[in-house]
Amino acid sequence: MHEVQPLEGSKTEQYAELAQQARGLLSGEHDRVANAANLSALVYHALPSLNWVGFYFHDGNELVVGPFQGKPACVPIALAPGVCGTAAVTRQTQRIADVDAFPDHIPCDGASRSELVGPLFRGDELHGVFDLDSPETDRFDADDQRGLEEIARIWLEATYERT
Ligand code: SME
Repeated sequence: MHEVQPLEGSKTEQYAELAQQARGLLSGEHDRVANAANLSALVYHALPSLNWVGFYFHDGNELVVGPFQGKPACVPIALAPGVCGTAAVTRQTQRIADVDAFPDHIPCDGASRSELVGPLFRGDELHGVFDLDSPETDRFDADDQRGLEEIARIWLEATYERT
């Protein structure tokens, strides 16, 4: 059984603890769906004020929803526009304080007010994006962005790098 351990200390310490739990959870598993499912569940239950956490996988053409926690999602999503598509095309994490102010935002859960999306690349190969939605405006800061990017790296390493 895997318990989600409560996160304590500063935000940096909390993300270090979350990353450690993520590495433990994915250790020895290389299946992308299993790893995306477990990471989504871990992040959704470990972090406060989130209403959707999950993966979209790139199928070579568009973004197709993968494992997630939250309400049923939009699928498929084109590589542009949208917050997820923008993360995929620009290869940059998209930290959107107010989704209503992002012209191309694709609303899936009407409760979402802010959004953080990290692209999943290995070299030039796009695997998908990792998406966090919050019902609070301006929920995500630079610490959250670093934390999400670290979780994304953990998923890529566990899934694709055999050591
Ligand atoms: N809002 C995203 C769509 C995915 S959902 O938030 C789960 C977008 O604009 O791409």
